[in-house]
Amino acid sequence: RRLHTLALLKPDLLANPQTVAEIISEIQRTPGLQIARRAQVFWTREEAERFYDEHRGRFFFRRLVDYMTSGPIEALALRGPTAVTLWRQMMGSTHPVRMRVTNAGCLRARYGLTDTRNSFHGSDSPQSAARELRLVFGEQITREMEA
Ligand code: CMP
Repeated sequence: RRLHTLALLKPDLLANPQTVAEIISEIQRTPGLQIARRAQVFWTREEAERFYDEHRGRFFFRRLVDYMTSGPIEALALRGPTAVTLWRQMMGSTHPVRMRVTNAGCLRARYGLTDTRNSFHGSDSPQSAARELRLVFGEQITREMEA
C-alpha cells in the first residue's frame, strides 16, 4: 500500500505564481516525496465546510472558511514512504509567527502570514489523508493509493 498525503497551497500563496513555482520545486527536490497528482481548485463555502468538518463550532471556523474560499487553491497528492509526517515536518505547525522563533526554516515560518492565513495544509494521519484526497480528487485516487 502506497502512502499518500494531501498538501494544499492556500489562496494567499496562489496570489503569487512565482512563490508557487518555488514551493513546487522545493517539493520536487525533496527525497522521499513525489507529486502524484496536482489540481487547482476553487472551493464553494459548502466544500470548504465539508473539508473542515472537524473544526465546525470552533471560534475560527468562519474565518477559516472565508480564507479558504477567497481564491483558488493548489492541491497536491504527495506520495512517499513517510509522506504524511514528512510533509507536516516541512510545513511546521499551525502558527507562522511562533514558527519563526522555533523552526524558522519551515514553510509556514517562511511564507505564512497569520494564525488563519498560514498558507499550507497537510493531512494529519493516513486516515485523514484518505478522506481528504477523496474529497479533492474523487474516488479514483483511492484505487491508486491501494495499488
Ligand atoms: P490547520 O492547522 O491546517 O487547520 C485548521 C486551520 O484553521 C488552520 O490551519 C488555520 O488556517 C485555521 N486556524 C487554526 N487556528 C486558528 C486560530 N487560532 N485563529 C484563526 N485561524 C486558525
